[in-house]
Amino acid sequence: SWSMSSFVDTTIESLKEQVGDAKVVLGLSGGIDSTVAAVMLHKAIGKNLHCIFVDNGLLRMGEREEVIGFLAEHFDLNVKMVDASSEFLDNLKGVEDPEKKRKIIGHKFIEVFDREAKAIKGVEFLGQGTLYPDVIESESFKGPSAVIKSHHNVGGLPETMNLKLVEPLRELFKDEVRRAAYELGLPEHIIWRQPFPGPGLSIRVIGEVTEERLQILRLADKIVQNEMMAADWYRKVWQGFAVLLPLKTVGVMGDDRTYENVIALRIVDSLDAMTADWSRLPSELLARMSNRIIREVKGVNRVVLDISSKPPSTIEWE
Ligand code: XMP
Repeated sequence: SWSMSSFVDTTIESLKEQVGDAKVVLGLSGGIDSTVAAVMLHKAIGKNLHCIFVDNGLLRMGEREEVIGFLAEHFDLNVKMVDASSEFLDNLKGVEDPEKKRKIIGHKFIEVFDREAKAIKGVEFLGQGTLYPDVIESESFKGPSAVIKSHHNVGGLPETMNLKLVEPLRELFKDEVRRAAYELGLPEHIIWRQPFPGPGLSIRVIGEVTEERLQILRLADKIVQNEMMAADWYRKVWQGFAVLLPLKTVGVMGDDRTYENVIALRIVDSLDAMTADWSRLPSELLARMSNRIIREVKGVNRVVLDISSKPPSTIEWE
């Protein structure tokens, strides 16, 4: 019978054969897919795997430190951290259109990654954590999300860089990647990490993305994450996060009138992200999230709950 440990072992063996003594460059996002791909490649070729982690300035609170610290310490991965936040944020100045945001970020990512990869002498392969559904979606271009919102995590890089592809997860579905991660000894917080989009928080700051608005969203989002984990709901939902709306509303604080930002909570159940429904969370949990956000996040005086399903809405707001 087919088992995950034999999949992992066989894959590592065939990676050794495919890559030989060549160097591989891989973009590490901190998500489970690129992490599992990196750890398998590392087991196969060791220091010939060069990982690049691009900080685009659109990450969640503490994310960069978590990803790099953990992988470098426990798995001895060769990770180069590139702080390109100011490049990304400069290019996003004044941009409100969701598709423009995605395109700018996609292009910038390729530019930065390409630059960093070229700085490594003699790279022959590009490692990617592409899963089976990604392969199908990009081959047929029929996946709704690929059409409705431009994804930049599949395609693009190989053509510009002239590298051979190495994709250890090409035959796997998401639940199988989780099992492989488990086999490889990855910790729970990586195995059960909720999906996070490539364009990061830029598509959750509705309207123009500024450092100040990103910071408001980061604080609010951290509360959502913490409360979901504390109440044991983090793994039960597909994704849960905060969205910062481009609008201010009136509130009251003591004797004073306030006029501040609105945070929307988007928390959904889904099996594959193609369809989704809003999660029926306990009202006490929602109340804790709302109270904490309003009390702890300066510049927010209202929290609303998104109760739309996909379709016709999407999971992300942009
Ligand atoms: P939507 O908003 O299309 O999202 O219902 C479906 C799933 O895809 C994620 N998402 C992305 N992931 N790059 C990504 O890597 C993207 O550009 C992107 N856009 C949406 C979203 O978080 C959800 O899990």
